[in-house]
This record gives sequence, C-alpha cells and structure tokens, in this order.
Amino acid sequence: MPITTCIFDAYGTLLDVAAAARIAAAEPGQEKLAECWPRIAQNWRLRQLHYTWLRTIMDDHADFWIITEDALDWALEAEGIDDTALRARLLALYRELEAYPDVAPMLRALKAAGLNTAILSNGTPDMLTAAVTSAGIGGDLDDILSVEMCGIYKPASAVYDMVGRRFACAPGEVLFVSSNGWDAAAAAAYGFTVAWVNRAGEPVERLPGKPAHVLPDLSRIPALAGV
Ligand code: LAC
Repeated sequence: MPITTCIFDAYGTLLDVAAAARIAAAEPGQEKLAECWPRIAQNWRLRQLHYTWLRTIMDDHADFWIITEDALDWALEAEGIDDTALRARLLALYRELEAYPDVAPMLRALKAAGLNTAILSNGTPDMLTAAVTSAGIGGDLDDILSVEMCGIYKPASAVYDMVGRRFACAPGEVLFVSSNGWDAAAAAAYGFTVAWVNRAGEPVERLPGKPAHVLPDLSRIPALAGV
C-alpha cells in the first residue's frame, strides 16, 4: 500500500528536547547548571514520560504542560537547585524548543510531493503551536494532533486512531516517525509503517511491535515515503 500520510512525534523527533537545558546552561551566571545540564535534561525527559504513564495507570490525567513542570521540579531538586528564575527560564525555553536541522528540508520535500503531514504528540495544542511557530515549520504541516483531543497519552491506541479519522486513511498508508523506541514499537503494533529515528543509538525496545526502519536521522524519510 503506498504511503499517503506522514505522521511525526514532536518531542525528541522534530524538537530537540535537550535544547532548553543546554541553552540555559550557556547563559551568564549559570555555572552550576553548566556542570549538570545533561543530567537535568535526561531526568526532566524521563520523569516527564514516566508521569504520563503513571498518571494514566492512576486514572489522574494532567496535561503535558503540568507534567513538564512537575518533571522539571523533580530534576532540579535532584541536583539541589532551588531557583525560581531558572525554573521559569527553562520552561520558557521548552515552549520554544529548536527543531533539529534535518526537519525543515524533510517536511518541505514531503509537502512538495503532496503527502499529508502532521504531528501526533503528547503535547498540549498550545505547547505544540508555540514550538512549531518558533521553529518555523508550521507551513509544511497540515495539522497538529494533540492527545488532549482524546484525553489519554501515548501509547494508547486511541491516540493512533486520531490519524485515520483526520486523514481518512488506513494504518498501512501511514509512515509514522518517532525517536522514542516505545512509541515506534506501539505504532508498529498498531499497524503503521514505522521509522524509528534512533538519534541516541539506543537498543531496540523489548515490546510488541518492531519498527520497519531504524534511521540515524530524518534525511531518508522522503525516500521511505516514496518521494
Ligand atoms: C511526544 C513525546 C512522546 O511528542 O515525544 O508525543
């Protein structure tokens, strides 16, 4: 079945989630952060994901912005940092995360070939719109689909169902692109053709569903979509 629709995870796939801590650490007066920013970035991301899954199991949903704040608070406290101004700065940077350099040319190629393109993300509509606007990639995206439209986090199948509803396509027509191994596994189990962008060189997740393609970056996505 030919690919008609390319769907992208946002955080870590299109948007560089480490950028907020990295940029803040280079600012004047941030010597302590400069020492520990990679650990903060990693703990922030891991807690953020854990909280999505744990709150789902606890049946106590909070949106991804609240979870992002809670996860940052955990990561800062783990380093002994109690700094309201730094917290606000990191959150402001998170709303305007940089896109990876390979994103814009890839999306442009897909759109020029007439494919459907969209983000499917845990982020709130507000967070995603802010990040897409500041990254300047909105013009090559047909839509931004947020889990807030169905009220449950990835990797619930209800999230992946949003794609077929929005684009009137079968799972086999969808190329789903994620840098999260667990998202790639679940989307493959759902029936999408999956490209796992393994930017971090991680082992494959031991979960049901295997990605059809494992890539170091996004440059081969247009070719995989038949462009
Ligand atoms: C997202 C997270 C999982 O954008 O990266 O949905």
